[in-house]
Amino acid sequence: MGFILAAVGSAVGLGNIWRFPYMVADNGGGIFFLVYLFALLTAGIPIMILEFGIGHKYRGGAPLSFAKMSRKFEWLGWSQVIVCFFIAVYYVLVIAWAMSYFYHSISLGYADDPSGFFYNNVLGLTEGPFELGGIQTQLLIPLAIAWAINFIAIYAGVKGGIEKLAKIFIPVLFLMVVVIAVRGSTLPGSAAGLNFMFEPDFSRLFDFKVWTAAYGQIFFDLSIAFAIMITYSSYLPKKSDLTGNAFTACFTNCGFSLLAGIAVFSILGHMAHSQGVAVQEVAGDGVGLAFVTFPAAITTLGGMAPLFGMLFFLALTMAGLTSLISINEAAIAALMDKLDMKRKKVTVVYTGVAAICSLVIATGAGLYILDIVDHFTNNFGIVFGGLIQVLLVGWIFNLKSLQDHINSVSEIKAGSWWVFSIKFITPLVAGYTGIMTLVGDIKVPYEGYPQEALLVMGWLVLAVIIVGGFLLSRLKWKNEIYLIEGVKD
Ligand code: PHE
Ligand code: NA
Repeated sequence: MGFILAAVGSAVGLGNIWRFPYMVADNGGGIFFLVYLFALLTAGIPIMILEFGIGHKYRGGAPLSFAKMSRKFEWLGWSQVIVCFFIAVYYVLVIAWAMSYFYHSISLGYADDPSGFFYNNVLGLTEGPFELGGIQTQLLIPLAIAWAINFIAIYAGVKGGIEKLAKIFIPVLFLMVVVIAVRGSTLPGSAAGLNFMFEPDFSRLFDFKVWTAAYGQIFFDLSIAFAIMITYSSYLPKKSDLTGNAFTACFTNCGFSLLAGIAVFSILGHMAHSQGVAVQEVAGDGVGLAFVTFPAAITTLGGMAPLFGMLFFLALTMAGLTSLISINEAAIAALMDKLDMKRKKVTVVYTGVAAICSLVIATGAGLYILDIVDHFTNNFGIVFGGLIQVLLVGWIFNLKSLQDHINSVSEIKAGSWWVFSIKFITPLVAGYTGIMTLVGDIKVPYEGYPQEALLVMGWLVLAVIIVGGFLLSRLKWKNEIYLIEGVKD
């Protein structure tokens, strides 16, 4: 139970609450949902089972687990760990924004000018990615709180910290989002909001953008191809139903996404209704949806507005925290394995370094940097990392031995659909969409950012992920015995 909640805690995050609803709305509504379900069945669940199998069989963080499969695979584990590090450094800022919004919901401080509030008061946004504009001191307290909670949970260990936190956070989180969804869908105008989100646009069934979005969402959404699920499952007892756990984690995560989508779009529908405009006109995208559009929508709830504002941003904060912890745990576990060091020591050093790095995103250019790093780590780091993972494990490694291991402990067997998904479907779709995005990015600079910015914050980050992965895998294992026996704290 602790494991399931920790895995769900990792999966359920900012991606469910602000990314998913907009992805649906923007990619053909109900059609996106169908493609997303296909991606779930052919990539999400199979890779989740695969990663649970790897972690459970080899009993180490990602680098150690891959190294034990073959010393030639170790670099992939490190590359995934570096991706985790980059993501942690910006993900924590989004949590800090959410915390700050929680606080400002009490007095509805954002009510007068939601957009100005976000860009000026919270972010202190500058003109471009190289104009740092100094650290925004208003973000320092929430940032410190986020790092502190993250630190305490990891420092206390998997059972005593991470699982305990998830056991409290996840049920509370579900309850809060249910309350918002129920209130939202009983408001006048909510039906139009939900229609906007779900109405299928059949003409987009074969649009590769929809497929790219759905597969990209699945990887990020489920925290797979990130070293995380390998790390978490390495702590499982010998007798654990791996496929059962994978199904539960995946369906819980996707169910939560649906719920969050209903909560968000029903309230947006209400706002459109009370302003007498179409939903299209109020639905902003991405970051703007959670921090500009939704705050504006909340203020249309009258006397209940502060309460629902606080609920929503507390949910966002808690969902983000359990995910942040998992990202950092993946990196910390990897370092513990390699350096043969105690959890507490690694946690102190790692968190210190990551917290200092996150100050860069706390500057007035933070949103730009975040946007670029996020685009590159997600669309290439994760998609290609996942692609290489399924290719290595599916084709070069003896997949059958892993399948036997999984089936020896699981009730539902990983059968031919699993093998077929790992060997053929995921590589084909991930490879195709990854390459299409890469070609697109080479042709047209992402979001029109200046080339130098994309070079430093995008392509260079990618290079660090790849080269850094190789270099770290060249370092000697402090204790070679791990490569034979595995470790657990
Ligand atoms: N799965 C999380 C979400 O949906 C995001 C996440 C990404 C968590 C990477 C951990 C690691 O928001
Ligand atoms: Na998720």
